[in-house]
Amino acid sequence: MPSSQTETPSSTPTQQSVPSQMRRIVLTGFMGAGKSTIGRLLAARLGWKFLDLDAHLENRTGATISELFARHGETHFRRLESTALASALARSSTVLALGGGTPEEFTNRLLIEQTPATFAVFLDAPFPTLFDRCMLQEIARPVLSDPAAAEQRFTLRRPHYLRLANLTIDTSDLTPEETVETLLNALNHTPYSPR
Ligand code: S3P
Repeated sequence: MPSSQTETPSSTPTQQSVPSQMRRIVLTGFMGAGKSTIGRLLAARLGWKFLDLDAHLENRTGATISELFARHGETHFRRLESTALASALARSSTVLALGGGTPEEFTNRLLIEQTPATFAVFLDAPFPTLFDRCMLQEIARPVLSDPAAAEQRFTLRRPHYLRLANLTIDTSDLTPEETVETLLNALNHTPYSPR
């Protein structure tokens, strides 16, 4: 069963704001980077909505990511992912957690770069750290079934994550809460020129 795609904004006493021209924050990074966990926490701190691209795609298709890979193959999955991304980027006041492979596609990078008022954050960590984190989670990830191939994908994708990012955070030694603090601090101290 697909999971729920969006969560309603929740206000906290320590609600933060971001520069007014910023209308969505996109979280990128490899599997295990913490995109969904950090996205949810960040959205709550901003009083914004949170959208997980995989969950959004599962809801649009009525199938889980694993089912989509198994039934139709990765190429078809990537096509669906691009369409889901285009619709997700139309939302405002939203923190959007991408799938780990989303920035590998040229079209997706263009979509993210060319959608105005969009701020991209790369959650970085070395491959062994990411792999260990994934092993502790009970999430079915078809792309991780071959660890050596997954490491090659990581090496291929990292330059794309870096180039796409307005901000990169090394999450290796940070808890999700510390990552959100670092991110909020950087958002309010980094000059932001809207695209
Ligand atoms: C993938 C990452 C997954 C999901 C799919 C493919 C990838 O998302 O989109 O299994 O190619 O890295 P997470 O990064 O949220 O696990």
